[in-house]
Amino acid sequence: MSTATQPFAAALDTATGRVSPQGPLQERRLSDLEGLYADAAAWRAAVDDGDPLVYTVSAATVPEQAGQVPFSITTIEPGDVAGELYMTKGHWHTADEGEVYVGLNGKGGLLLFDGDAHRWIDLSDGAVGYIPPRWAHRTVNTGSEPFRFLAIYPGAAGHDYERVLRGGMGARVIRDGDGRGYEVRAVEAGT
Ligand code: PA5
Ligand code: NI
Repeated sequence: MSTATQPFAAALDTATGRVSPQGPLQERRLSDLEGLYADAAAWRAAVDDGDPLVYTVSAATVPEQAGQVPFSITTIEPGDVAGELYMTKGHWHTADEGEVYVGLNGKGGLLLFDGDAHRWIDLSDGAVGYIPPRWAHRTVNTGSEPFRFLAIYPGAAGHDYERVLRGGMGARVIRDGDGRGYEVRAVEAGT
């Protein structure tokens, strides 16, 4: 029998953020986001005080290989570190490959950075965000409930996290004064 990936249907549980059949399941705690929050002292204090779960990625059983098209649901919990909202680490693709994000539930958005300019796309209410090749991308929970989205990407895209650690994302997403809204605040490259 062929060992090639077979056609299949997956179920997306939008209430729990799980794909089934389930491939890799990844949990990221605040300690996994070292060096990414502006306020390092507040980050350290929150890590020492229970190291909360920030996001979970539930991936389908599709290999990250050229020609394949993996997909996954990310769930970002609500929260912030000294006002800077819970977010994914963010990455560049190592190959010139794009990606599609589909908002499922909750409030959130997609921060993009091409090394020079940043963009913000709101993914609340089922919006579809398109990430062209050569744009770093990070998602942020801007609400008070879990934010979930589906990601679909070429299997040969590859993930470079170091470049975001070194060069930042061109902006930070901060709760605004009354705690209900948010601001996408431009920052110097590398900060
Ligand atoms: O493929 C993607 O871009 C997403 O599935 C992300 O990997 C996921 O949202 C987690 O973000 P990160 O890979 O930046 O930790
Ligand atoms: Ni990606």
